[in-house]
Amino acid sequence: MERPVIVVHGGAWHIPAPLREAFHEGCRQAAGAGWAVLLSGGTALDAVEVAVRVLEDNPVYDAGRGSHSNSKGEVELDAFIMDGRTLELGAVAAVKRVKNPITLARRIMESNEHAFVVGDGAEVWAQTLGIPLCDPAELLGQPESTVAMPEDSWMPPGMQLPADTVGAVALDLAGNLAVGTSTGGTPNKRPGRVGDTPLVGCGAYADNAAGAAAATGWGERLMRLVLSKSACDLLAQGWTPQAAAEHLVAQLERRVAGYGGMIIVDRHGQVGLAHNTPHLSFAVIRVGEEMLSGTEVPKGLLGGAG
Ligand code: GLY
Repeated sequence: MERPVIVVHGGAWHIPAPLREAFHEGCRQAAGAGWAVLLSGGTALDAVEVAVRVLEDNPVYDAGRGSHSNSKGEVELDAFIMDGRTLELGAVAAVKRVKNPITLARRIMESNEHAFVVGDGAEVWAQTLGIPLCDPAELLGQPESTVAMPEDSWMPPGMQLPADTVGAVALDLAGNLAVGTSTGGTPNKRPGRVGDTPLVGCGAYADNAAGAAAATGWGERLMRLVLSKSACDLLAQGWTPQAAAEHLVAQLERRVAGYGGMIIVDRHGQVGLAHNTPHLSFAVIRVGEEMLSGTEVPKGLLGGAG
């Protein structure tokens, strides 16, 4: 049993070469912040919230600050958090004026009243919960009209531009699991469009009896396979996280021509990472080991499918 463990990702897609170091470093910082929480005896829930906040605050990623805008030039953010101990969850979608949607998702979860709140209603509730609203301009990344795909761009057939969703999974010293995700969604999306990220079981799932999983990539395809709950079901059947991650990412491509990646930690502290995109920015911290991190996952990094 390895405890604690934290794994974060900053999105699975083609990361243009000049941006790779920033994507990599941002994941290291987020994992380090979550790790500090875990080492001091904090909960997995606290750790994933802190790690995702660091990623949301980093304008490199399509979450929180720096998010892609929709076709009206507005930012609409989605986030999700889940406690594997209680199976409680909180989610928000299409919020325009919340700097850290992961924290609003958590506060909604803890309200014990509703689980998933969207749009204006979520923003009104944020204020009631003591979360101030920000100027939407603070959240906007590059105008979409200036998002040019680089020469060496990779794009599967039928795909739009990337969404660099962020996510974190953690196992704490007490053996509790949690997951958090956050995204600005796809560039130029229709107003009101929501992807997999805040949908329970699709973008994320956590259950102390199995593990915690987060998915990233092309939301419209990812949600068809309910990837994160599927990962936890495989873990409960005895699959290793690496085998589950590789299997589900292969299914994503084979069954629904989808592209993306997954991060998983099981209740024993074993880790799985897989993607069928050129890149997945990630960082993993486990007891007694150097941080593992990068912008692609080499075959065999975590022992293969086993
Ligand atoms: N995976 C993020 C999204 O499609 O919105």
